[in-house]
Amino acid sequence: MFTPDRIKIKGKIALSPMAGVSDSPTRQITRKMGSAFSFTEFVSTDGIKKGIQKTIDLFKFQEMERPIHFQIFGNKKNIITDACKIIEELNPDVIDLNMGCSVSKVAHKGSGAGLLRDPIYAGEIINSMAKNVNIPITAKIRIGWDHKSLNYKEVVHILQESGISMLSVHGRTKMMGYSGRADWNIIGEIKSFAKVPVWGNGDITSYREANQKIIETGVDGVLVGRGAIGNPWIFSGLDKETLDFNIIREKIVEHLKLMQDFYSEENGLILFRKHFVRYLHGVRGTLPLKERLLTETNSEKFMEILMSYIPDLSYEKFELNEKLSCNTFSQEEAILS
Ligand SMILES: Cc1cc2nc3c(=O)[nH]c(=O)nc-3n(C[C@H](O)[C@H](O)[C@H](O)COP(=O)(O)O)c2cc1C
Repeated sequence: MFTPDRIKIKGKIALSPMAGVSDSPTRQITRKMGSAFSFTEFVSTDGIKKGIQKTIDLFKFQEMERPIHFQIFGNKKNIITDACKIIEELNPDVIDLNMGCSVSKVAHKGSGAGLLRDPIYAGEIINSMAKNVNIPITAKIRIGWDHKSLNYKEVVHILQESGISMLSVHGRTKMMGYSGRADWNIIGEIKSFAKVPVWGNGDITSYREANQKIIETGVDGVLVGRGAIGNPWIFSGLDKETLDFNIIREKIVEHLKLMQDFYSEENGLILFRKHFVRYLHGVRGTLPLKERLLTETNSEKFMEILMSYIPDLSYEKFELNEKLSCNTFSQEEAILS
């Protein structure tokens, strides 16, 4: 079993795991920009145990992404343990158990946040993981199933007694999904009694805010999810609003190229769309570019239009109301099942 100080993490802000978003190209971009470590998307232990190649491929990573935390989800101790033994061969730095996914298909089957309803069993799972692999085991939790069952104290005590080396806390309940606000008071409370490093998570949209939360709550670090999509500068301290369009364009090109190298020219471009929309979010005069390129499937044309574009400042800064939601999970689950 590993002790907390065996996880060498330099930095205090990292990219949160996001199915359908935090793939290897995106982790490379964010790690390069200062994300303290990398988290894979959550991966089904059932799929790993069955040897489904598409599932195992979700763990592909580049050395520069290290420290790399493989995140898994499941609801059966034996399958989870076997899956850990299988993925240990891929040489991750950490294996993290997802105890926070709120999507019904996952949580209502007893995986993800579903494990919060049975902390003793969750502890048995962690214990078995920690005993059977020679890698630090961590967990990412929410603060409870709902507000009537805020059992984070019990959960944290059990998990740390069972062998976790670090804990990430999304300050919402499962029933909140993504509504309301993350409760950073509870995250701070958890930090005050936890014996392992605690990373807080929820609603962070800037580098400054991340550092404020670290100071206010004493957490060891902060995970940023949605606020980092299309804004890898959040890890470097640069304020995206101050950046010239050319700098944003350079990052778009770099990210797209990594996606195309990783997937294929065609799929990479299609999968990049969700990032592209967010890169242009709030960037003045780029609405026509967004509208033109979101349906473009020809990579050369995409690049030609992007590179020759001059922001049209007659367009007011537009606010994108579209929210990236956990719906991406269904896409992910389709791959996993
Ligand atoms: C599209 C999407 C996919 C997500 N996938 C995962 C996942 O695979 N594993 C996980 O632990 N959390 C996942 N989450 C939750 C985030 O890691 C994070 O806890 C949550 O979004 C709150 O942080 P934020 O406000 O910074 O986005 C996902 C969130 C989103 C929006």
